[in-house]
Amino acid sequence: MNPLLQFEKWFNQEKKMSDLKLPAACCLSTIGLNGYPNSRFVSLKEVSNDSFIITGPLNSKKGVEIENNPKASLSFWWTSTERQIRIQGDVSKISRPNAVLYFEQRNRDSQIVSTVFEQGKQVESIKHLRKAFEEQKEILQNKAIHCPENWGGIYIKPVRIEFMEFKKSRLHERTLYELANNEWKMTILQP
Ligand SMILES: Cc1cc2nc3c(=O)[nH]c(=O)nc-3n(C[C@H](O)[C@H](O)[C@H](O)COP(=O)(O)O)c2cc1C
Repeated sequence: MNPLLQFEKWFNQEKKMSDLKLPAACCLSTIGLNGYPNSRFVSLKEVSNDSFIITGPLNSKKGVEIENNPKASLSFWWTSTERQIRIQGDVSKISRPNAVLYFEQRNRDSQIVSTVFEQGKQVESIKHLRKAFEEQKEILQNKAIHCPENWGGIYIKPVRIEFMEFKKSRLHERTLYELANNEWKMTILQP
């Protein structure tokens, strides 16, 4: 089976069973400029073009790291179905028109945050942060909010996907798919 279809199948099963608010939350790891892996949670937007899509400001730390080394991993742990998925892949940027489409789907407060703040830059205090947000909200009242130039998204095109069914017996079932010559090769791994 194509592992991307397997991913969709497991994701749908989790969404059906789960009362998790954010089943699309996953851990995105990039390679830091200092050589250390750098992980943070993000939201999977969708699987499209045989790739996993993540959006956000690309002048952020993750954006800089991806620019320097366009390789990343995504990890999911789904508590209802007790399954883990680990993905490694090559990163490329989504097009500007697609970024605009994703930006338009965000709620207004998220759009305002993206226009007023530079993700990861230092701020004097939480008070300053709130004031800047409220001021911008006032300025943008009844106005269209445009997708900032630095806001975009990435494709993570997988080269390796491992599915694990967690078992109480500890006989976890691990299935690994690796891409070789454009074909997925499947192997079963010991727990
Ligand atoms: C559940 C959850 C979902 C998140 N989704 C995103 C996201 O889709 N895009 C994003 O840029 N940051 C998202 N964040 C914030 C990131 O964890 C992180 O703080 C931010 O991207 C800055 O990371 P960086 O400084 O390494 O670039 C999310 C955080 C959480 C807890």
